[in-house]
Amino acid sequence: MQRLLITIDGPAGAGKTTVSKLLAERLSYIYVDTGALYRGIALAVKTSPVPVSIDDEKALQNLCQSVRLHFENGEKGNCLMLNGMDISDQIRTPEISMLASAVSAKTVVREYLLDLQRELGRQKGAVFEGRDMGTVVFPDADLKFFIHASLKVRAARRYEELRDKTKGISPKAVEKDMEKRDHNDSSRKIAPLRPAEDAISIDSSDLTGLQVLERMLEYFPRQYTSTSTLVF
Ligand code: DC
Repeated sequence: MQRLLITIDGPAGAGKTTVSKLLAERLSYIYVDTGALYRGIALAVKTSPVPVSIDDEKALQNLCQSVRLHFENGEKGNCLMLNGMDISDQIRTPEISMLASAVSAKTVVREYLLDLQRELGRQKGAVFEGRDMGTVVFPDADLKFFIHASLKVRAARRYEELRDKTKGISPKAVEKDMEKRDHNDSSRKIAPLRPAEDAISIDSSDLTGLQVLERMLEYFPRQYTSTSTLVF
C-alpha cells in the first residue's frame, strides 16, 4: 500500500498533538511535531552563550547553522535533541512558547527548518503537525487537515496541561498568551497560520481526540482504514 504524507495544521490547543499521535500510531507512520523544532530554536536563542537578538538576522542565521537539532527515539519516546541534549521537557514552558512564536516569524529560521522538515518527509509514511504544513512545507501532501476550536476551549485545555508543571499560572494568563500567539502566528508575513485551500477543517471544541480521529479516518481511502489494518 502506498505510504501517505498527512499534514495537520491549526492553532495552539486545538488538540493537534493528540490526534496526530493517534493517527500516526494507527497507521504505523512517523509523527513529526514541527512546533517542537521552532521551540528548539527558541531554546537555543535563550541559552546561547553569546547573546542573540531575534531581530538580528545574521546572528539568528549563524545560530541556526551552528545548532544540531534532531528527533531521537529514546526511553521516553520521541525526544527532541539540541546539540546532543534531550530538551523535550525544557521547551514546554510558557516563556519558550512565546519565544518560539516570535522566532517563527523570522525568514532565516523558517528557511532553515523548511529544509529539515522536507528531509524528514522524503520517505512519506508520516504525519506532520504544525501551522504551515499543508500550505508551505508540503503543498502536495496526500491528505491535509486543519483542526481548530474556540479560544476558550483551547485555553482551558492548555491550562489543564500546564497547571501542575508551572508555578503561579492562571487560566486568564494562559488565555491571554494564547490569544497573543494566535495573533502572531496568523498575522506574520511568511507562512501565516491558515488552512490550505484543500484542507479538511474539523472543529474539535466538542469532540474528544478519538472522535476527531474517527472524523479524519472518514476521508481516507478504504484500504487504509479497514478493520484489518485498524483496531479500535
Ligand atoms: O505547535 P507549538 O505550539 O508547539 O508551536 C510553537 C510555535 O511555533 C507556534 O506559536 C508557531 C510556531 N510554529 C510555526 O510557525 N510553524 C509550524 N509549522 C509549527 C510551529
